[in-house]
Amino acid sequence: MTATSPMTATLIDGKAFAASLRTRIGTAVTAMKAQGITPSLTVVLVGEDPASEVYVRSKGRMTREVGMNSFEHRLPADTPQADLLALIDRLNGDPAVNGILVQLPLPSHMDEAAVINAIDPAKDVDGFHILNVGRLATGQKAMVPCTPLGCLMLLRDQLGSLAGKNALVIGRSNIVGKPMAQLLLRDSATVTMAHSRTSNLQDLCRQADIVVAAVGRPHFVQGDWIKLGAVVIDVGINRTDDGLVGDVDFDGAAKFAGAITPVPGGVGPMTIACLLANTLTATARANGLPDPEGLTP
Ligand code: GUN
Repeated sequence: MTATSPMTATLIDGKAFAASLRTRIGTAVTAMKAQGITPSLTVVLVGEDPASEVYVRSKGRMTREVGMNSFEHRLPADTPQADLLALIDRLNGDPAVNGILVQLPLPSHMDEAAVINAIDPAKDVDGFHILNVGRLATGQKAMVPCTPLGCLMLLRDQLGSLAGKNALVIGRSNIVGKPMAQLLLRDSATVTMAHSRTSNLQDLCRQADIVVAAVGRPHFVQGDWIKLGAVVIDVGINRTDDGLVGDVDFDGAAKFAGAITPVPGGVGPMTIACLLANTLTATARANGLPDPEGLTP
């Protein structure tokens, strides 16, 4: 293989990886139950956003499938913020609740940061609480956001060590881009942050051994920008007239990448599996048990 002969990429099967992760979680849940501890996840949904309804339903189903207790609280869209905060307070104090997830987006009259920061950081299985963000950034034990955690697992599975790899993160959201960069740094990658306003994206891409695209624009990353043999993780889920497409031009990029995630079936299934992993970790910590093996970075 020469640098000029395009190759065919390995398809990273996130669906299969997530299924095997859920199997491992299920085994750990069974062991915890034998000690009289049943991990539980509580999801709070405010309003009737159809996409959120779909996510919340699959979260509940998969939580039950691994043997955890699944609780749901549905509040009307016009719920006063004080009522939501009172519910969170109650869940914080309930020892039967190990993980709390408030589905985003919230209705526009609510202050998202205030709501997230009201969750007990030990139960914040989204890893969005400002204390968890700070702990991750300073190398302390934290709850890590689910989507970047899933991307990290796929990258480690492909590459083994990430040390010294040039990693390009495209997208600067609090949910994916920023925590992804922190996780890659922690694994000793050389991390570059780019976003929709980056001027030399093409040049940066050509030097990257790892590309994580989380910018939310269909086919923002062109195929021939990818360095030969690079690992490409596409977090984008964009609804277009051609159906669901990622942030990367998959067909073009697959000619150059060493490995690439499809959309759908790549990163997507990893997010809920990592939510269950975080719930298990939160439960272990709440009960003075060691962190479950291989689930928490
Ligand atoms: N809405 C879309 N993605 C997410 C997520 O990861 N967590 C929460 N809480 N809401 C979301």
